[in-house]
Amino acid sequence: MIIATDNDVVLRELTEADIPKLAEYANNEKVSINLRDAFPSPYTIDDAKRFIEMVDKQDPKTLFAIEYKGNYAGNISLSLGSDVYRKSAEIGYFIGEPFWNKGIASKAVRLLTEYGFEKFDIVRIYTGIFEYNKASQRVLEKCGFVKEAVFKKSIFKKGELYDEIRFALLKNDYSEK
Ligand SMILES: CC(C)(COP(=O)(O)OP(=O)(O)OC[C@H]1O[C@@H](n2cnc3c(N)ncnc32)[C@H](O)[C@@H]1OP(=O)(O)O)[C@@H](O)C(=O)NCCC(=O)NCCS
Repeated sequence: MIIATDNDVVLRELTEADIPKLAEYANNEKVSINLRDAFPSPYTIDDAKRFIEMVDKQDPKTLFAIEYKGNYAGNISLSLGSDVYRKSAEIGYFIGEPFWNKGIASKAVRLLTEYGFEKFDIVRIYTGIFEYNKASQRVLEKCGFVKEAVFKKSIFKKGELYDEIRFALLKNDYSEK
């Protein structure tokens, strides 16, 4: 099922047919280096199958495939907060390396923020980017996210400490655009 579209970029539900390409694009250190260690590396077909099974059980669905010109190109998600954070959601995404620098993540983030603010009772969408991930910081800036804070040395990745740059977009600010 398609949930949002902007010409050549479509957000839709993930299906079992995505498993081979998901495993291929996710099995890339240039991708995993920018993500939490919960993201498997190496990333196998079995990891992709388990992931699709998990997504299948989601209700409501907050994890989607990004399609570019009809081809599976990556994933994007919102993690809805709980307790006192229940008016916030964290956005996460990755694009397969063959599709980088075509403006796909920027379009996908815009589409999912619009969808998220309309579909869910949230006022804030945020994320934290590792300091060396300049491309992702650029994507968020292009989508109107505001740099809110630097969490010094909060990331421990591959044996090194890094800062995390926190970005957020408020529903009010988004609505005014
Ligand atoms: C980060 C990522 C999502 C970007 O996807 P994408 O589809 O290539 O992004 P876009 O094409 O929409 O925009 C990328 C922007 O970053 C810029 N950019 C790319 N590499 C850069 C670098 N090393 N330094 C600075 N800017 C860079 C591009 O020029 C572009 O900006 P512009 O439109 O002003 O020229 C993709 O590289 C990726 O999936 N990386 C691995 C996983 C990841 O980092 N996920 C996000 C974790 S929070």
